[in-house]
Amino acid sequence: MSPSPATRYAADFELARTDPAAFWDREAGHIRWMSEPESVLDARAAPFYSWFVGATLNTCDNCVDRHVEAGHGERVALIHDSPVTGTITRLTYDELLTRVARFAGAIAALGVEKGDRVIIYMPMMPEAVIAMLACARIGAVHSVVFGGFAGPELAKRIDDATPKLVISASCGIEPGRVVAYKPLLDHAIELAAHKVERCIIIQRDTQPCDLIAGRDIDWHEAVASARPANCVPVAATDPLYILYTSGTTGRPKGVVRDNGGHAVAMHYSARAVYGLTPQDTFWTASDVGWVVGHSYCVYAPLLLGCTTVIYEGKPVGTPDAGAFWRVIEDHGVNVFFTAPTAFRAIKKIDPEGRAAAGHDVSCLRALFLAGEHCDPDTAAWAARHLNVPVVDHWWQTETAWAITANPLGIADLAVPSGSAGRPMPGYDVHVLGPDGQDVAAGEMGDIAIALPLPPGTLTTLWNNDTRYVEAYLSAYEGYYRSGDAGYFDADDNLWVMSRIDDIINVAGHRLSTGMIEEIVAAHDDVAEAAVIGARDADKGQLPVALVVLKAGCERPEADIVAELIAAVRAAIGPVAAFKKAVIVERLPKTRSGKTVRATLRQIADGDEVQIPATIDDASGLDEIAERLATIGYGR
Ligand code: COA
Ligand code: AMP
Repeated sequence: MSPSPATRYAADFELARTDPAAFWDREAGHIRWMSEPESVLDARAAPFYSWFVGATLNTCDNCVDRHVEAGHGERVALIHDSPVTGTITRLTYDELLTRVARFAGAIAALGVEKGDRVIIYMPMMPEAVIAMLACARIGAVHSVVFGGFAGPELAKRIDDATPKLVISASCGIEPGRVVAYKPLLDHAIELAAHKVERCIIIQRDTQPCDLIAGRDIDWHEAVASARPANCVPVAATDPLYILYTSGTTGRPKGVVRDNGGHAVAMHYSARAVYGLTPQDTFWTASDVGWVVGHSYCVYAPLLLGCTTVIYEGKPVGTPDAGAFWRVIEDHGVNVFFTAPTAFRAIKKIDPEGRAAAGHDVSCLRALFLAGEHCDPDTAAWAARHLNVPVVDHWWQTETAWAITANPLGIADLAVPSGSAGRPMPGYDVHVLGPDGQDVAAGEMGDIAIALPLPPGTLTTLWNNDTRYVEAYLSAYEGYYRSGDAGYFDADDNLWVMSRIDDIINVAGHRLSTGMIEEIVAAHDDVAEAAVIGARDADKGQLPVALVVLKAGCERPEADIVAELIAAVRAAIGPVAAFKKAVIVERLPKTRSGKTVRATLRQIADGDEVQIPATIDDASGLDEIAERLATIGYGR
């Protein structure tokens, strides 16, 4: 008799907890290795752990070549659905192989070798995926930078990753405007201390750009003269990519992902969490600039041999609120993944779900949501209008795959709405109190994961082992600290409630208030500033700045606020969604000089205000409440 689904989850979870090497050795059987591992889990350098030591493989080989060799070359690998350009492009595995191998040859011809870094700064087009796979093919380490970041943010990533090559496009298309990428790239290269020698630029019909002779090469010209490159064997422990994410300061953290553990974890999660089979079409409405895009637009579906949908559009406005239903129907999507904010955007303009009417989405089996806390209302609305189970699951750039979920591929664990599910096999999740001990069910605490983390999770921060240990491993010995707070209920479901640091979540995008604060505080008229994440019905949170002006400054508030908004947009990019600031007399601080951000947030959100015992002088709080009320917050 085969085990019941719930028993299978329990068995997998227990094996992964008590004998991780045995569990992941079993799962590694799904990957094509060029040489087998000598050891599945190497703990000799703990707290730095390595998976599949001694093995070699190639991630691109597993994503593309392997399926073609198995006779699946005619299966569609990728569908690019782009309402903003009015095009739909389909690439079979055969075609993907041809294009990736040629492009890999093109970048190799420019001198890119195994271990070299390549930055990819592109909109959601098939070439972004081709560029990622081409890097993997020759063992180069890609670092994709989200297109909504401006030049100075790109420059920070160029300086940290020191790429040999940057791959970009002439433009991206946002509803109502064309985003010229090339001037942003040129500006970043000018700002960066690291000298970028070569750029490959794909010209888009919507708005081509000028190329700089000697530095820039047209994508098609580079490919025209290129010979296809073969897959290079890399060590399982070699980096596949670096992905920058917000830390608590203005300096982004370069999360390092290995090849072997990542391939095993992606394949496992595609089956266990999402219940995918190679016959399925999987659509993740995210962007390749985020981890969700890396894992579930690109690597997991291709490793399994599925069809992945790459969507260059928005949930609303491209052209209407029925876009999700249209794409699911047109491409026969079986499993769909996006962020709750996308459904809130639809619900806001089409509360009755009228635009969904007339679309047959019976092909769909499940909707997965992540990126931010999902309110039960939004989950219920999506379930009603898609008529499928909705799974909220919790993960981070650092982990690459779900820490908690309802793993529909192995069991439906009947998770209550509002919870992010049960720990996935491989994650030994704890909720810790200030003394580092587990708290009781129902009690809030720091969510931490006992080491070792499973395959696929970050191995370190790029060129910065010290920051890795300080940021994640030093708070509680033997644990990875997630930075999120929450609690377990009596049935072991995890409820992820808030961040414990200064990271905020805007439309499913992770931002640091510190990074916005740095730009605001640098304005000539500003003495000091505090940026908080205030609750927002659509985007989850929005950044709001409280600003103290330098003594004697009498310029109009509206002018200063407009300059601050423009400065943040120029330095960080539109993705910061920074549109609100107020001027206040003073910022309340603790006796040790720390701004009481949590209290400011409670005022902005209109919650009960808890004044910390350590506050130096609470007299300014009323004035702050009055000022925030003028821009629609609090009260
Ligand atoms: N290139 C350039 N600019 C971009 C961009 C890109 N790739 N992506 C977003 N922007 C811009 C937007 O145009 C907007 O500019 P504006 O201030 O001029 O309006 C700004 O950045 C903020 O973008 P966003 O917060 O995404 O808001 P939006 O109104 O454009 O869209 C949603 C809101 C909810 C529809 C959208 O964020 C979404 O679909 N999110 C869910 C999916 C997701 O990506 N989740 C992340 C990980 S799961
Ligand atoms: P990112 O690294 O951009 O994927 O953001 C990760 C952060 O987003 C987490 O640390 C959480 O704060 C938040 N997050 C992601 N998924 C969820 C979820 N399902 N529920 C609550 N918060 C989430």
